[in-house]
Amino acid sequence: MRNIPLIALFFLIGIIVTINVGWAQEDMEVVDNSVFENHQRTPSVFFHDEHNENAGIDGCAECHHIYEKGERLEDESSEDQSCSDCHNLEGGDGQPSLIKAFHGNCKGCHLDEKKGPILCGECHVK
Ligand code: HEC
Ligand code: HEC
Ligand code: HEC
Ligand code: HEC
Repeated sequence: MRNIPLIALFFLIGIIVTINVGWAQEDMEVVDNSVFENHQRTPSVFFHDEHNENAGIDGCAECHHIYEKGERLEDESSEDQSCSDCHNLEGGDGQPSLIKAFHGNCKGCHLDEKKGPILCGECHVK
């Protein structure tokens, strides 16, 4: 019986962590550009949650993907990682460089769907 408060505590921590992960990007307004060395542009506008809701994107893996042997895994996602954890500045091993990863993901979908910005200044707003 002595363990009940401890179990309750872990349960509470679990709930708090879950809520934070679920809502953590509510406040994101731009994509962090700190990994890039010499900034030529302002950070891109991206209201994470609002964008994904407006664009009607359901799956986190649409952007936070995981590949295995060149195949994108359907039921797994990598939202606990930054894009730069896998995509480095140079690219290589069949993986696009970080800038190509961002532009391919963002502009690629906007071009496919004929919706969303594709001009530099529409994302990198001065
Ligand atoms: C759909 C949105 C979008 C469009 C359109 C876009 N970019 Fe980007 N770009 C990004 C994102 C996201 C990043 C990653 C980090 C950041 O800057 O926020 C990025 C990063 C960059 C970077 C590296 C980071 C830096 O600080 O310099 C450069 C350079 C860049 N873009 C130039 C361009 C140019 C030039 C164009 C037009 C030909 C363009 N981008 C169009 C979204 C966009
Ligand atoms: C349209 C693309 C897109 C979709 C869909 C998307 N995200 Fe993101 N998310 C991003 C980008 C871009 C970042 C910034 C990543 C970076 O800076 O490397 C990000 C960052 C995050 C982060 C912070 C991770 C970090 O860099 O530390 C979390 C948490 C997150 N997203 C959760 C989610 C969840 C949960 C979903 C699904 C409900 C989701 N995202 C759907 C694009 C997306
Ligand atoms: C766990 C590692 C990992 C993370 C995290 C990751 N990627 Fe990737 N990504 C890969 C691998 C591996 C490939 C190469 C896939 C192949 O073999 O074609 C790839 C391919 C891509 C491609 C080209 C193919 C496609 O799906 O259009 C784009 C664009 C891309 N990533 C963007 C992103 C963006 C944007 C993020 C962050 C939101 C991100 N990636 C996070 C591993 C990752
Ligand atoms: C899977 C498709 C998809 C991906 C990936 C995607 N977008 Fe979009 N985006 C859309 C659609 C669809 C719209 C238009 C939504 C509307 O009409 O309301 C849009 C609209 C936007 C807008 C206009 C304002 C808004 O929020 O509606 C911005 C800015 C934007 N996207 C930036 C980005 C950036 C930056 C990335 C990459 C980190 C990205 N998008 C990735 C589909 C996508």
